[in-house]
Amino acid sequence: MVNEALPEKGVPAEQVLDEIRGLRAADRPTHGGRLFAYVYDPAVPGLDELAASAHALSAHVNGLDPTAFPSLLAMENALVGAAAKLLGGGPGTTAPDVVGSVTSGGTESLILAVKAARDARPAVERPRIVVPVSGHAAFAKAAHYLGVALDLVPVDPVTLRPAPEAVAAAIGPDTVLVVCSAPSYAHGVVDPVEAIAAAAAAAGVRCHVDACFGGWTLPWLRRLGEPVPAFDFTVPGVTSISVDLHKYAYAPKGVSVLLHRDATLRAPQYFAYADWPGYGMINPVITSTRSGGPIAAAYATLRHIGDDGYLELVRQTRDAVRALADAVQGVDGLRLMAGPESTVVCFTSTDPGLDLFVLVDELTARGWHTQPQLSYGELPASVHLTVTASVAPRVAEFGPDLHDAVAAARAAGPVALPAELLALAGTLTPEALTPELVAGLAASLGLGGGTGGGPLPDRAAVINRLLDAAPVRLREKLLVEFVSLLQRPSY
Ligand SMILES: Cc1ncc(COP(=O)(O)O)c(C=O)c1O
Repeated sequence: MVNEALPEKGVPAEQVLDEIRGLRAADRPTHGGRLFAYVYDPAVPGLDELAASAHALSAHVNGLDPTAFPSLLAMENALVGAAAKLLGGGPGTTAPDVVGSVTSGGTESLILAVKAARDARPAVERPRIVVPVSGHAAFAKAAHYLGVALDLVPVDPVTLRPAPEAVAAAIGPDTVLVVCSAPSYAHGVVDPVEAIAAAAAAAGVRCHVDACFGGWTLPWLRRLGEPVPAFDFTVPGVTSISVDLHKYAYAPKGVSVLLHRDATLRAPQYFAYADWPGYGMINPVITSTRSGGPIAAAYATLRHIGDDGYLELVRQTRDAVRALADAVQGVDGLRLMAGPESTVVCFTSTDPGLDLFVLVDELTARGWHTQPQLSYGELPASVHLTVTASVAPRVAEFGPDLHDAVAAARAAGPVALPAELLALAGTLTPEALTPELVAGLAASLGLGGGTGGGPLPDRAAVINRLLDAAPVRLREKLLVEFVSLLQRPSY
């Protein structure tokens, strides 16, 4: 149980920390190589302590005014330089004028890439962006926030990539940005960046490469001899790239880098305002007050691990990916969605008697935390594993546990949703979803009462099956309502 956040009398520091440790016990394990989503762990001894110390040194520094805190500006510029160099830009390259900003995360980087593209074309009254359906959901969020229309391009159900011709065909006079992923989050495949960027350039449109997820591994994978296609500033037509340092650079959360090929492309990303009596506001990113903590922690992390360190971490990750993919391929009834070409293993079930959502629960029960992905269009439901270096030492344990979990899932059989619930999922319109209906549904699904102290029931297969049966817009509404049930003040 959480205590009240504002007690009448302050509580001693050690007690407060103990309380947080107690709360953390209900969380998924952030370390130990058994969590395949949300957390990126290199298992480098001492790194957490270093990052925490660096974070603490700069936590109260404010990026709102870089002239007041040159330490932050210096570290930000160093991070941008490192990212630019890694991704085909900087002195001596074909993209010598790359500039960038540090943002709070991938979503902020993508929103800003869309904003820069929109504001660079003020004459376009109804701006649009072209995004493959495999593009991250943050592009849809950017479009929604910025009043930009989204033109989705399907992906091939086998290659999981968009056809460059389909992307080219989707570009119209109001298109301000074309997007591709390197790689996509869901399946870990790299889009045909060269062909897409060429199509965008031919139409005079910006092209953003979302390398939030893979930008910090693909260059080293290539150096290890993997066939990584061109995806960075070496590709003509690529105008901006995002890469998250809080993912595979293993920095603590709150740091991504958004790069532009030159300062002219970046200019419309900025927001400046002087039409008020306060300080002249000039924000390169969405947040105004910005803690220096994440930037300092990222700077310390990059400097401590170094290029050779990342090469080794990527090697370990690549080996773990191969071993996990082999384990999946060794199971009858499971199929890899894509050959592992980055740091993702993603598989689906080919056996109607093997319910993936039940399998996910069985893996959780064995201490492996994977991420279920719902079916979408022609794409079947799948299980996603984001693989980090910390998985390498545990990987031999995965195969036997997977076999066990599959046997248990087969024995349990697929989730059978009550017929009335299935009918509801199929026919209910999002508007008809009343709070009472949701509360009843949540209670019947056990939401809000996990035995481990978490908000989810220990078995989530029924919830996933229900969501899977619902059309996209109803899924969204159900998710909003479920999460809003969880977000209630405690007194
Ligand atoms: C390809 C890609 N883009 C963008 C994002 C969004 O990043 P964030 O969660 O840091 O906002 C993610 C997150 O997984 C991602 O994988």
